[in-house]
Amino acid sequence: MNTVEAGPRPGSYALGRTAPEYERLRAQARAWEPATGRLLDQVGLGAGASCLDAGCGPGEVMRLMAERVGPQGRVLGADVDAPLGAAALAALHAAGHRQCDFAAHDLTADEPVPGGPFDVVYARLLLFHLPRPAAVLARLWDAVGPGGHLVVQDYDLRSASVLPGLDSAAEMLRVIAGAFAAVGCDMQAGARLPQLFAEAGVGPPDGTDVAGRMEPLAVGRTYLERTFRSVLPGGVAHGITTDAAASAVLAEFGQDCARFPDRPLLWPLLIGAWKRKERA
Ligand SMILES: C[S@@+](CC[C@H](N)C(=O)[O-])C[C@H]1O[C@@H](n2cnc3c(N)ncnc32)[C@H](O)[C@@H]1O
Repeated sequence: MNTVEAGPRPGSYALGRTAPEYERLRAQARAWEPATGRLLDQVGLGAGASCLDAGCGPGEVMRLMAERVGPQGRVLGADVDAPLGAAALAALHAAGHRQCDFAAHDLTADEPVPGGPFDVVYARLLLFHLPRPAAVLARLWDAVGPGGHLVVQDYDLRSASVLPGLDSAAEMLRVIAGAFAAVGCDMQAGARLPQLFAEAGVGPPDGTDVAGRMEPLAVGRTYLERTFRSVLPGGVAHGITTDAAASAVLAEFGQDCARFPDRPLLWPLLIGAWKRKERA
């Protein structure tokens, strides 16, 4: 466990490490629960299996895994954010999922991921944030046991939009994209998964999946507002916006949401890919 003491590197992660951001991650995870459950079922994650959630964050996918592998299975979450992982583990144990464990680990470190081999190695919305995603993907593939599966889901941010367009939403999306770009995020990581699988030596995916989500602004506005607030400190630090401009656009967006509550907000696409490792 290489970074328990070191923790996340400042400035290398565009999102916040705050209670509101952790709540945003939980809400986002609930939104994508059917899309992720579908892939876990697609690869046959079942009773007694062992699995890793790489970049587990608040542990919502660990819960989906625990429900599938049952008490005889094993679920490990790994994340560089040790306090978030500890909170996730406490909540999972309190809910009776005693087969779950957590490892504080920097997945970009040049060393094997802990706890392998696994029947399923899964990562959601992780590669997007990493400077050398193919190198991490290769290590995740190394942690898959013979006959097991690698499963990845990640965003393609290009689809995020309100239509007909609103200047306020377009400005918020500009700031979000700028803040991600400033720290080297790959905003098309999802669409790039087959390419990343090839670069990592995994080979062509056995299957791919594209999940979408569209909500009226009255419902979906919180997703955009929370993401904007989460990246804002980085956006200001990198000169993409100012605190005053951010306050103004949030106020304008609030007025637009009140005027056009039914206008559809399209989320980023969540794109999945999976691969089974041949038995030796
Ligand atoms: C956007 S969140 C996604 C969380 C979770 N996978 C989900 O979909 O709900 C990205 C997660 O990746 C973690 N992360 C970022 N860089 C990491 C690294 N180098 N090693 C391990 N975890 C990392 C973050 O701490 C965060 O919990």
